Amino acid sequence: MNMTLCFVLGLSLLLYFKTVAQTLCTDTRLLHNVTKGQMLPTHKIQSFTAPGLMICARECVYQTNCLSFNFGPESGQCDLTRAVAGPSLPLVSKTGYLYASKSDWVTAIAENCKHVNCAPNHICVPSKTGNMCVLNDCGIPPVIDFGSSSEYRGTVIGYTATYNCSGIGVKAEVAPLTCLDTGAWEGRHCRRVSSCEDVQDCDSSYVDGEYWIYPNAFGNDERVKVYCHRLTSDSPMDYITLPNMNRLLWPPQKCPILTVTW
Ligand SMILES: *[C@@H]1O[C@H](CO)[C@@H](O)[C@H](O)[C@H]1NC(C)=O
Ligand SMILES: *[C@@H]1O[C@H](CO)[C@@H](O)[C@H](O)[C@H]1NC(C)=O
Repeated sequence: MNMTLCFVLGLSLLLYFKTVAQTLCTDTRLLHNVTKGQMLPTHKIQSFTAPGLMICARECVYQTNCLSFNFGPESGQCDLTRAVAGPSLPLVSKTGYLYASKSDWVTAIAENCKHVNCAPNHICVPSKTGNMCVLNDCGIPPVIDFGSSSEYRGTVIGYTATYNCSGIGVKAEVAPLTCLDTGAWEGRHCRRVSSCEDVQDCDSSYVDGEYWIYPNAFGNDERVKVYCHRLTSDSPMDYITLPNMNRLLWPPQKCPILTVTW
């Protein structure tokens, strides 16, 4: 008996697939392997709208890092995820969603890419001349100095990961990194306080006095003690405190030249 059907009948689960009936057939055995009413909320690689379950499954099969997916048949929401649910990574209830593990679907995807082993962070792109593996994922965002754990909705090219920066002498700001087409997360990392203006931003109750700052002129990683003047005003000024009396000749004088008279 041919178990591969372009489904027509009214089992409630089959309704999930109605939108793709024209374009993709599904293996009805797979319908037993989806977990209805649940999803994996973490480990996202990418989210997009897919016209049907089979398209969502296919995108997961094509991406090396994808191990499972969530699909919302009503909304078309398709989340590709880099982990498989299990005892240490439980699914959460979510009405209108289903969860499926990629391994159950590889054999059901009709196109060539199922036989292709692309490297991690790559996606298989079918083409007339063969299948191509294309870099599309930056992987899990890195740990950055003074950054919190990252927050992100996905890890493929164009997605952003954000970190809250904190620590002594560190500007309290959000550092964003973006996944570039080089496959690397790039962007502004957490910065240290580099001027009296930054000191003022840290806490508006700070008053004039000496502070350690990390001037950008020294790469933002060597500290220098400065006196911050008018810290409570709109234009605080940075001064270096000199331990001893200092003298400066201005304008600078040329070295004396020995002139010889005959
Ligand atoms: C569905 O899952 C069961 C175990 O839960 C497994 O034995 C079976 O092979 C899976 N079906 C398919 C089509 O992968
Ligand atoms: C940063 O902090 C804000 C406020 O506490 C919080 O809502 C947000 O989720 C945090 N972001 C990250 C990346 O930790």
